[in-house]
Amino acid sequence: MRITNVCCIGAGYVGGPTMAVIAQKCPHVKVTVVDLNADRIAKWNDPDVDNIPVYEPGLGEIVAHSRGKNLFFSTEVDNAIDEAQLIFISVNTPTKTYGSGKGMAADLKYIELCARQIARVSKGDKIVVEKSTLPVRTAEANKNILDNTGNGVQFQILSNPEFLAEGTAVEDLLSPDRVLIGGENTEEGKKAIQALVDIYANWVPKERILTTNLWSSELSKLTANAFLAQRVSSVNAISELCEKTGANVSEVANAIGMDSRIGNKFLKASVGFGGSCFQKDILNLVYISKSFGLQEVADYWEQVIIMNDHQKRRFSKNIVSTLYNTVADKKITFLGWAFKKDTNDTRESAAIYVADDLINEQANIAVYDPKVNYNQVLSDLDYLETRAAESNKKHTISFSDPYEACKNAHAIAVLTEWDEFKEYDWQRIYDAMLKPAFIFDGRNLLDAKKMNEIGFVFQAIGS
Ligand SMILES: NC(=O)c1ccc[n+]([C@@H]2O[C@H](COP(=O)([O-])OP(=O)(O)OC[C@H]3O[C@@H](n4cnc5c(N)ncnc54)[C@H](O)[C@@H]3O)[C@@H](O)[C@H]2O)c1
Repeated sequence: MRITNVCCIGAGYVGGPTMAVIAQKCPHVKVTVVDLNADRIAKWNDPDVDNIPVYEPGLGEIVAHSRGKNLFFSTEVDNAIDEAQLIFISVNTPTKTYGSGKGMAADLKYIELCARQIARVSKGDKIVVEKSTLPVRTAEANKNILDNTGNGVQFQILSNPEFLAEGTAVEDLLSPDRVLIGGENTEEGKKAIQALVDIYANWVPKERILTTNLWSSELSKLTANAFLAQRVSSVNAISELCEKTGANVSEVANAIGMDSRIGNKFLKASVGFGGSCFQKDILNLVYISKSFGLQEVADYWEQVIIMNDHQKRRFSKNIVSTLYNTVADKKITFLGWAFKKDTNDTRESAAIYVADDLINEQANIAVYDPKVNYNQVLSDLDYLETRAAESNKKHTISFSDPYEACKNAHAIAVLTEWDEFKEYDWQRIYDAMLKPAFIFDGRNLLDAKKMNEIGFVFQAIGS
Protein backbone atom coordinates (compact mmCIF):
# COMPACT_ATOMS: atom_id res chain seq x y z
CA MET A 1 0.00 0.00 0.00
CA ARG A 2 1.43 3.42 -0.92
CA ILE A 3 0.74 5.88 1.85
CA THR A 4 -0.14 9.41 0.78
CA ASN A 5 -2.10 10.63 3.79
CA VAL A 6 -0.86 10.48 7.35
CA CYS A 7 -2.22 11.89 10.57
CA CYS A 8 -0.55 12.22 13.97
CA ILE A 9 -2.54 12.55 17.17
CA GLY A 10 -0.52 14.64 19.63
CA ALA A 11 1.38 17.80 18.63
CA GLY A 12 3.94 17.68 21.43
CA TYR A 13 7.72 17.33 21.64
CA VAL A 14 7.57 14.11 19.62
CA GLY A 15 4.58 14.52 17.30
CA GLY A 16 5.52 18.02 16.09
CA PRO A 17 9.19 17.50 15.16
CA THR A 18 8.69 13.93 13.88
CA MET A 19 5.90 14.88 11.53
CA ALA A 20 7.70 18.02 10.33
CA VAL A 21 10.61 15.83 9.23
CA ILE A 22 8.34 13.24 7.58
CA ALA A 23 6.59 16.05 5.68
CA GLN A 24 9.88 17.51 4.52
CA LYS A 25 11.29 14.17 3.39
CA CYS A 26 8.06 12.87 1.83
CA PRO A 27 6.60 15.71 -0.24
CA HIS A 28 4.09 13.24 -1.75
CA VAL A 29 2.55 12.57 1.69
CA LYS A 30 0.00 14.90 3.28
CA VAL A 31 0.78 15.07 7.01
CA THR A 32 -1.77 16.45 9.48
CA VAL A 33 -0.83 16.86 13.14
CA VAL A 34 -3.82 17.16 15.45
CA ASP A 35 -4.18 17.99 19.12
CA LEU A 36 -6.99 18.77 21.56
CA ASN A 37 -4.95 21.66 22.88
CA ALA A 38 -6.08 24.57 20.70
CA ASP A 39 -3.46 26.91 22.13
CA ARG A 40 -0.67 24.53 21.16
CA ILE A 41 -2.03 24.15 17.63
CA ALA A 42 -2.32 27.93 17.28
CA LYS A 43 1.35 28.24 18.22
CA TRP A 44 2.34 25.61 15.64
CA ASN A 45 0.47 27.72 13.09
CA ASP A 46 2.04 31.02 14.18
CA PRO A 47 3.40 32.74 11.05
CA ASP A 48 6.59 33.52 12.98
CA VAL A 49 8.31 30.14 13.44
CA ASP A 50 10.17 31.52 16.47
CA ASN A 51 6.85 31.14 18.31
CA ILE A 52 6.22 27.43 17.69
CA PRO A 53 5.67 25.68 21.02
CA VAL A 54 8.70 23.38 20.90
CA TYR A 55 12.18 24.89 20.86
CA GLU A 56 14.68 22.70 19.00
CA PRO A 57 17.65 23.92 16.96
CA GLY A 58 16.70 23.84 13.25
CA LEU A 59 13.04 22.97 13.81
CA GLY A 60 11.64 26.37 12.79
CA GLU A 61 13.19 26.09 9.31
CA ILE A 62 11.85 22.58 8.80
CA VAL A 63 8.34 23.59 9.82
CA ALA A 64 8.49 26.68 7.58
CA HIS A 65 9.58 24.50 4.66
CA SER A 66 6.44 22.33 4.57
CA ARG A 67 3.73 24.08 6.59
CA GLY A 68 0.71 24.91 4.45
CA LYS A 69 2.06 22.72 1.63
CA ASN A 70 1.93 19.14 2.90
CA LEU A 71 2.20 19.78 6.65
CA PHE A 72 -0.86 20.93 8.59
CA PHE A 73 -1.59 21.53 12.28
CA SER A 74 -5.23 21.31 13.29
CA THR A 75 -7.68 20.67 16.12
CA GLU A 76 -10.05 18.76 13.84
CA VAL A 77 -9.11 15.31 15.04
CA ASP A 78 -12.05 13.36 13.53
CA ASN A 79 -11.48 14.81 10.09
CA ALA A 80 -7.79 14.00 10.09
CA ILE A 81 -8.40 10.42 11.27
CA ASP A 82 -11.06 9.90 8.64
CA GLU A 83 -8.80 11.08 5.79
CA ALA A 84 -5.61 9.26 6.86
CA GLN A 85 -4.45 5.82 5.77
CA LEU A 86 -1.92 5.70 8.57
CA ILE A 87 -2.33 7.25 12.04
CA PHE A 88 0.51 7.87 14.47
CA ILE A 89 -0.52 8.03 18.13
CA SER A 90 1.93 10.38 19.83
CA VAL A 91 0.06 11.45 22.93
CA ASN A 92 1.53 11.70 26.41
CA THR A 93 1.83 8.62 28.62
CA PRO A 94 2.66 10.08 32.03
CA THR A 95 3.09 8.16 35.26
CA LYS A 96 -0.28 7.38 36.86
CA THR A 97 -1.19 9.73 39.69
CA TYR A 98 -4.19 7.77 41.00
CA GLY A 99 -5.51 4.29 41.67
CA SER A 100 -3.64 1.04 41.26
CA GLY A 101 -0.09 1.50 40.00
CA LYS A 102 -0.12 5.12 41.22
CA GLY A 103 3.36 6.66 40.97
CA MET A 104 4.69 3.82 38.79
CA ALA A 105 2.50 2.52 35.98
CA ALA A 106 2.00 4.46 32.76
CA ASP A 107 -1.32 6.24 32.57
CA LEU A 108 -2.83 4.91 29.36
CA LYS A 109 -6.06 6.88 29.43
CA TYR A 110 -4.97 9.19 26.60
CA ILE A 111 -3.93 6.23 24.46
CA GLU A 112 -7.20 4.43 25.03
CA LEU A 113 -9.18 7.56 24.18
CA CYS A 114 -7.30 7.77 20.89
CA ALA A 115 -7.98 4.11 20.08
CA ARG A 116 -11.70 4.58 20.79
CA GLN A 117 -11.83 7.73 18.71
CA ILE A 118 -10.07 6.04 15.78
CA ALA A 119 -12.48 3.09 16.03
CA ARG A 120 -15.51 5.38 16.08
CA VAL A 121 -14.45 7.62 13.20
CA SER A 122 -12.84 5.18 10.76
CA LYS A 123 -14.87 4.19 7.72
CA GLY A 124 -12.02 2.42 5.92
CA ASP A 125 -9.05 0.16 6.81
CA LYS A 126 -6.21 1.89 8.64
CA ILE A 127 -2.74 1.34 9.99
CA VAL A 128 -2.41 2.58 13.58
CA VAL A 129 1.14 3.28 14.72
CA GLU A 130 2.10 3.54 18.39
CA LYS A 131 4.68 6.33 18.47
CA SER A 132 4.21 7.03 22.19
CA THR A 133 6.32 5.01 24.62
CA LEU A 134 4.11 2.23 25.96
CA PRO A 135 4.26 -0.71 28.32
CA VAL A 136 4.98 -3.99 26.59
CA ARG A 137 1.78 -5.62 25.28
CA THR A 138 -0.20 -2.37 24.98
CA ALA A 139 -0.74 -3.12 21.29
CA GLU A 140 -2.89 -6.06 22.37
CA ALA A 141 -5.24 -3.77 24.29
CA ASN A 142 -5.34 -1.27 21.44
CA LYS A 143 -6.20 -4.01 18.97
CA ASN A 144 -8.99 -5.27 21.18
CA ILE A 145 -10.54 -1.83 21.41
CA LEU A 146 -10.19 -1.13 17.69
CA ASP A 147 -11.55 -4.52 16.60
CA ASN A 148 -14.44 -4.62 19.05
CA THR A 149 -15.67 -1.05 18.97
CA GLY A 150 -14.97 -0.18 15.33
CA ASN A 151 -17.23 -0.12 12.31
CA GLY A 152 -16.07 -3.49 11.03
CA VAL A 153 -13.04 -2.07 9.21
CA GLN A 154 -9.59 -3.67 9.46
CA PHE A 155 -6.87 -2.19 11.68
CA GLN A 156 -3.21 -3.11 11.66
CA ILE A 157 -1.25 -2.05 14.73
CA LEU A 158 2.42 -1.20 14.54
CA SER A 159 4.85 -0.14 17.24
CA ASN A 160 7.31 2.54 16.11
CA PRO A 161 8.87 4.03 19.25
CA GLU A 162 10.69 7.33 18.92
CA PHE A 163 14.33 7.54 19.96
CA LEU A 164 14.94 11.25 19.41
CA ALA A 165 16.57 13.19 22.23
CA GLU A 166 15.28 16.65 23.01
CA GLY A 167 17.85 19.32 22.15
CA THR A 168 19.04 17.32 19.15
CA ALA A 169 15.63 16.19 17.86
CA VAL A 170 16.06 17.45 14.30
CA GLU A 171 19.50 15.93 13.89
CA ASP A 172 18.29 12.65 15.43
CA LEU A 173 15.26 12.53 13.13
CA LEU A 174 17.22 13.38 9.99
CA SER A 175 19.84 10.72 10.61
CA PRO A 176 18.60 8.27 13.21
CA ASP A 177 20.86 5.51 14.58
CA ARG A 178 17.95 3.22 13.81
CA VAL A 179 14.22 3.23 13.17
CA LEU A 180 12.36 0.42 14.89
CA ILE A 181 9.10 -0.97 13.58
CA GLY A 182 7.25 -3.82 15.28
CA GLY A 183 4.25 -5.54 13.77
CA GLU A 184 2.31 -8.75 13.55
CA ASN A 185 3.80 -11.68 11.72
CA THR A 186 0.80 -12.15 9.40
CA GLU A 187 0.37 -11.28 5.71
CA GLU A 188 -1.54 -8.11 6.61
CA GLY A 189 0.91 -7.29 9.39
CA LYS A 190 3.87 -7.57 7.01
CA LYS A 191 2.16 -5.31 4.46
CA ALA A 192 1.57 -2.68 7.15
CA ILE A 193 5.21 -2.87 8.28
CA GLN A 194 6.32 -2.43 4.67
CA ALA A 195 4.08 0.61 4.22
CA LEU A 196 5.79 2.34 7.17
CA VAL A 197 9.25 1.15 6.09
CA ASP A 198 8.58 2.81 2.72
CA ILE A 199 7.94 6.15 4.41
CA TYR A 200 11.20 6.10 6.37
CA ALA A 201 13.14 4.73 3.39
CA ASN A 202 12.71 8.15 1.76
CA TRP A 203 15.68 9.31 3.83
CA VAL A 204 16.84 6.56 6.23
CA PRO A 205 19.26 3.92 4.86
CA LYS A 206 17.54 0.50 4.68
CA GLU A 207 20.01 -1.20 7.03
CA ARG A 208 19.00 1.24 9.78
CA ILE A 209 15.32 0.30 9.61
CA LEU A 210 14.78 -2.65 11.94
CA THR A 211 11.63 -4.71 11.96
CA THR A 212 10.66 -6.91 14.91
CA ASN A 213 7.61 -8.37 16.55
CA LEU A 214 5.35 -5.97 18.44
CA TRP A 215 6.48 -6.91 21.92
CA SER A 216 10.20 -6.60 21.19
CA SER A 217 9.62 -3.15 19.74
CA GLU A 218 7.57 -1.93 22.70
CA LEU A 219 10.07 -3.31 25.22
CA SER A 220 13.14 -2.02 23.33
CA LYS A 221 12.13 1.59 23.91
CA LEU A 222 11.74 1.13 27.68
CA THR A 223 15.02 -0.77 27.76
CA ALA A 224 16.92 1.88 25.80
CA ASN A 225 15.82 4.61 28.21
CA ALA A 226 16.58 2.43 31.23
CA PHE A 227 20.14 1.78 29.98
CA LEU A 228 20.75 5.46 29.24
CA ALA A 229 19.47 6.58 32.63
CA GLN A 230 21.45 3.83 34.30
CA ARG A 231 24.69 5.24 32.87
CA VAL A 232 23.89 8.64 34.36
CA SER A 233 23.13 7.16 37.77
CA SER A 234 26.25 4.98 37.59
CA VAL A 235 28.58 7.89 36.96
CA ASN A 236 26.71 10.00 39.52
CA ALA A 237 27.22 7.28 42.14
CA ILE A 238 30.94 7.40 41.40
CA SER A 239 30.89 11.22 41.63
CA GLU A 240 29.99 11.03 45.31
CA LEU A 241 32.83 8.61 45.92
CA CYS A 242 35.19 10.96 44.05
CA GLU A 243 34.27 13.82 46.36
CA LYS A 244 35.27 11.72 49.37
CA THR A 245 38.48 10.33 47.95
CA GLY A 246 40.15 13.12 45.99
CA ALA A 247 39.50 11.43 42.64
CA ASN A 248 37.99 13.60 39.93
CA VAL A 249 34.91 12.23 38.20
CA SER A 250 35.70 13.87 34.85
CA GLU A 251 39.11 12.19 34.83
CA VAL A 252 37.56 8.85 35.82
CA ALA A 253 34.87 9.19 33.13
CA ASN A 254 37.48 10.03 30.53
CA ALA A 255 39.62 7.06 31.51
CA ILE A 256 36.80 4.52 31.45
CA GLY A 257 35.17 6.05 28.37
CA MET A 258 38.22 5.25 26.26
CA ASP A 259 37.46 1.58 26.76
CA SER A 260 35.58 0.76 23.57
CA ARG A 261 33.37 -1.70 25.47
CA ILE A 262 32.16 1.15 27.69
CA GLY A 263 32.23 4.07 25.22
CA ASN A 264 32.48 7.74 26.10
CA LYS A 265 28.90 8.98 25.72
CA PHE A 266 26.51 9.68 28.58
CA LEU A 267 29.27 9.63 31.18
CA LYS A 268 29.04 13.19 32.45
CA ALA A 269 28.37 13.46 36.17
CA SER A 270 25.65 15.97 36.99
CA VAL A 271 22.97 17.02 39.44
CA GLY A 272 20.82 14.27 37.90
CA PHE A 273 18.79 13.45 34.84
CA GLY A 274 15.42 15.04 34.13
CA GLY A 275 13.05 15.14 31.21
CA SER A 276 9.68 13.59 30.72
CA CYS A 277 10.91 10.12 29.80
CA PHE A 278 13.70 8.51 31.80
CA GLN A 279 12.00 8.44 35.18
CA LYS A 280 8.55 7.53 33.90
CA ASP A 281 9.85 4.81 31.60
CA ILE A 282 11.96 3.19 34.30
CA LEU A 283 9.08 3.34 36.77
CA ASN A 284 6.98 1.69 34.12
CA LEU A 285 9.61 -1.04 33.66
CA VAL A 286 9.71 -1.54 37.42
CA TYR A 287 5.94 -1.80 37.55
CA ILE A 288 5.76 -4.31 34.71
CA SER A 289 8.51 -6.42 36.29
CA LYS A 290 6.68 -6.40 39.63
CA SER A 291 3.42 -7.33 37.96
CA PHE A 292 5.12 -10.45 36.58
CA GLY A 293 6.51 -11.23 40.06
CA LEU A 294 10.08 -10.34 39.07
CA GLN A 295 11.03 -8.53 42.28
CA GLU A 296 14.82 -8.62 41.75
CA VAL A 297 14.49 -7.20 38.26
CA ALA A 298 12.22 -4.46 39.58
CA ASP A 299 14.59 -3.62 42.47
CA TYR A 300 17.58 -3.50 40.13
CA TRP A 301 16.04 -0.84 37.88
CA GLU A 302 14.39 1.08 40.70
CA GLN A 303 17.84 1.78 42.11
CA VAL A 304 18.55 4.01 39.07
CA ILE A 305 15.75 6.34 40.20
CA ILE A 306 16.74 6.16 43.87
CA MET A 307 20.29 7.24 42.92
CA ASN A 308 18.97 10.08 40.78
CA ASP A 309 16.77 11.42 43.57
CA HIS A 310 19.70 11.16 45.96
CA GLN A 311 21.93 13.14 43.60
CA LYS A 312 19.45 16.04 43.36
CA ARG A 313 18.94 16.09 47.10
CA ARG A 314 22.60 15.99 47.99
CA PHE A 315 23.25 18.89 45.60
CA SER A 316 20.80 21.12 47.47
CA LYS A 317 21.99 19.89 50.86
CA ASN A 318 25.54 20.77 49.89
CA ILE A 319 24.49 24.30 48.95
CA VAL A 320 22.89 24.78 52.36
CA SER A 321 25.81 23.35 54.33
CA THR A 322 28.42 25.29 52.33
CA LEU A 323 26.53 28.55 52.81
CA TYR A 324 27.12 28.24 56.57
CA ASN A 325 24.07 26.04 57.15
CA THR A 326 21.56 28.73 56.32
CA VAL A 327 20.16 30.02 53.07
CA ALA A 328 17.20 31.83 54.60
CA ASP A 329 16.64 35.13 52.76
CA LYS A 330 19.77 34.56 50.66
CA LYS A 331 19.62 35.13 46.93
CA ILE A 332 20.67 32.05 45.02
CA THR A 333 20.79 32.41 41.26
CA PHE A 334 19.91 29.46 39.07
CA LEU A 335 21.55 29.50 35.68
CA GLY A 336 19.25 27.23 33.70
CA TRP A 337 15.85 25.75 34.43
CA ALA A 338 15.27 23.47 31.39
CA PHE A 339 16.15 19.83 31.95
CA LYS A 340 18.96 20.06 29.39
CA LYS A 341 20.38 22.56 26.94
CA ASP A 342 18.77 23.44 23.60
CA THR A 343 15.22 22.69 24.74
CA ASN A 344 12.47 24.69 26.45
CA ASP A 345 11.18 21.51 28.11
CA THR A 346 11.29 21.65 31.91
CA ARG A 347 9.49 18.41 32.76
CA GLU A 348 11.21 16.66 35.69
CA SER A 349 14.10 19.11 35.48
CA ALA A 350 16.54 18.77 38.39
CA ALA A 351 16.26 22.55 38.85
CA ILE A 352 12.68 22.18 40.08
CA TYR A 353 13.62 19.81 42.89
CA VAL A 354 16.71 21.75 43.93
CA ALA A 355 14.65 24.96 44.05
CA ASP A 356 11.96 23.19 46.06
CA ASP A 357 14.52 22.07 48.67
CA LEU A 358 16.05 25.52 48.89
CA ILE A 359 12.67 27.27 49.19
CA ASN A 360 11.93 24.91 52.08
CA GLU A 361 14.98 26.54 53.66
CA GLN A 362 13.48 29.96 52.84
CA ALA A 363 16.01 30.88 50.16
CA ASN A 364 15.12 33.32 47.39
CA ILE A 365 15.69 31.84 43.96
CA ALA A 366 16.52 34.04 40.95
CA VAL A 367 16.21 32.16 37.67
CA TYR A 368 17.73 32.87 34.31
CA ASP A 369 17.11 30.47 31.43
CA PRO A 370 17.34 31.58 27.80
CA LYS A 371 14.20 29.61 26.82
CA VAL A 372 12.07 29.33 29.95
CA ASN A 373 9.81 32.08 31.28
CA TYR A 374 8.66 32.92 34.81
CA ASN A 375 5.19 31.40 34.42
CA GLN A 376 6.75 28.06 33.58
CA VAL A 377 9.02 28.22 36.64
CA LEU A 378 6.04 28.95 38.88
CA SER A 379 3.85 26.29 37.32
CA ASP A 380 6.62 23.68 37.74
CA LEU A 381 6.94 24.53 41.44
CA ASP A 382 3.19 24.70 42.00
CA TYR A 383 2.83 21.26 40.38
CA LEU A 384 4.82 19.73 43.26
CA GLU A 385 2.17 20.99 45.69
CA THR A 386 4.79 21.48 48.41
CA ARG A 387 3.45 24.88 49.45
CA ALA A 388 0.94 27.56 48.50
CA ALA A 389 1.37 29.18 45.09
CA GLU A 390 1.74 32.57 46.82
CA SER A 391 4.76 31.29 48.68
CA ASN A 392 6.42 29.99 45.50
CA LYS A 393 5.87 33.41 43.99
CA LYS A 394 7.35 35.13 47.01
CA HIS A 395 10.52 33.05 46.88
CA THR A 396 11.23 33.09 43.13
CA ILE A 397 11.93 35.71 40.55
CA SER A 398 13.14 35.39 37.00
CA PHE A 399 15.33 37.61 34.85
CA SER A 400 15.82 37.99 31.14
CA ASP A 401 19.37 39.18 31.69
CA PRO A 402 21.86 36.81 33.36
CA TYR A 403 24.00 39.61 34.79
CA GLU A 404 20.98 41.13 36.52
CA ALA A 405 20.04 37.67 37.79
CA CYS A 406 23.46 37.25 39.44
CA LYS A 407 23.71 40.75 40.93
CA ASN A 408 23.94 40.68 44.76
CA ALA A 409 23.57 36.90 44.84
CA HIS A 410 25.24 34.85 47.55
CA ALA A 411 25.64 31.90 45.22
CA ILE A 412 25.08 30.66 41.69
CA ALA A 413 23.90 27.16 40.90
CA VAL A 414 24.37 25.91 37.33
CA LEU A 415 21.40 23.64 36.58
CA THR A 416 21.42 23.42 32.77
CA GLU A 417 24.46 23.11 30.49
CA TRP A 418 23.55 25.97 28.10
CA ASP A 419 26.64 26.80 26.01
CA GLU A 420 26.22 30.55 26.54
CA PHE A 421 27.06 30.21 30.25
CA LYS A 422 30.66 29.40 29.33
CA GLU A 423 30.99 32.66 27.40
CA TYR A 424 29.89 35.04 30.15
CA ASP A 425 32.09 37.79 31.55
CA TRP A 426 32.61 35.96 34.84
CA GLN A 427 34.76 38.69 36.32
CA ARG A 428 31.83 41.10 35.92
CA ILE A 429 29.50 38.59 37.55
CA TYR A 430 31.93 38.08 40.43
CA ASP A 431 32.31 41.81 41.03
CA ALA A 432 28.54 42.25 41.36
CA MET A 433 28.00 39.35 43.81
CA LEU A 434 28.13 39.28 47.60
CA LYS A 435 31.37 37.85 48.98
CA PRO A 436 32.43 35.16 49.36
CA ALA A 437 30.86 34.38 45.99
CA PHE A 438 29.99 30.72 45.51
CA ILE A 439 29.34 28.70 42.37
CA PHE A 440 27.83 25.21 42.53
CA ASP A 441 28.28 23.72 39.09
CA GLY A 442 25.70 20.97 38.76
CA ARG A 443 26.60 20.25 35.14
CA ASN A 444 30.40 20.24 35.23
CA LEU A 445 30.24 23.02 32.68
CA LEU A 446 32.55 25.79 33.83
CA ASP A 447 36.33 25.91 33.95
CA ALA A 448 37.24 25.33 37.62
CA LYS A 449 40.71 26.85 37.32
CA LYS A 450 39.42 30.05 35.76
CA MET A 451 36.65 30.40 38.35
CA ASN A 452 39.08 29.89 41.23
CA GLU A 453 41.46 32.46 39.76
CA ILE A 454 38.69 35.06 39.61
CA GLY A 455 38.03 34.44 43.30
CA PHE A 456 34.89 32.32 43.30
CA VAL A 457 34.50 29.52 45.81
CA PHE A 458 33.84 26.93 43.12
CA GLN A 459 32.43 23.45 43.54
CA ALA A 460 31.58 21.03 40.75
CA ILE A 461 29.91 17.64 41.09
CA GLY A 462 32.44 14.87 41.64
CA SER A 463 35.61 16.81 42.41
N1 LIG B 1 9.76 13.99 24.74
C1 LIG B 1 10.67 13.12 24.33
O1 LIG B 1 11.86 13.39 24.27
C2 LIG B 1 10.23 11.75 23.90
C3 LIG B 1 11.13 10.96 23.18
C4 LIG B 1 10.70 9.70 22.76
C5 LIG B 1 9.43 9.26 23.08
N2 LIG B 1 8.57 10.04 23.79
C6 LIG B 1 7.22 9.55 24.07
O2 LIG B 1 6.34 10.15 23.13
C7 LIG B 1 5.06 10.38 23.73
C8 LIG B 1 4.68 11.84 23.60
O3 LIG B 1 5.63 12.61 24.31
P1 LIG B 1 5.71 14.18 24.17
O4 LIG B 1 6.92 14.62 24.91
O5 LIG B 1 5.55 14.56 22.74
O6 LIG B 1 4.38 14.61 24.98
P2 LIG B 1 3.66 16.03 25.01
O7 LIG B 1 2.97 16.11 26.30
O8 LIG B 1 4.64 17.09 24.61
O9 LIG B 1 2.57 15.94 23.82
C9 LIG B 1 1.46 15.12 23.83
C10 LIG B 1 0.30 15.87 23.20
O10 LIG B 1 -0.78 14.95 23.03
C11 LIG B 1 -1.99 15.70 23.16
N3 LIG B 1 -3.11 14.78 23.41
C12 LIG B 1 -3.33 13.97 24.47
N4 LIG B 1 -4.45 13.25 24.29
C13 LIG B 1 -4.96 13.58 23.08
C14 LIG B 1 -6.10 13.18 22.34
N5 LIG B 1 -6.92 12.24 22.80
N6 LIG B 1 -6.31 13.75 21.15
C15 LIG B 1 -5.46 14.71 20.66
N7 LIG B 1 -4.37 15.12 21.32
C16 LIG B 1 -4.11 14.57 22.52
C17 LIG B 1 -1.71 16.63 24.31
O11 LIG B 1 -2.58 17.75 24.29
C18 LIG B 1 -0.24 17.02 24.03
O12 LIG B 1 -0.14 18.23 23.29
C19 LIG B 1 5.18 9.88 25.16
O13 LIG B 1 4.72 8.56 25.23
C20 LIG B 1 6.67 9.92 25.41
O14 LIG B 1 7.06 8.97 26.36
C21 LIG B 1 8.95 11.29 24.19
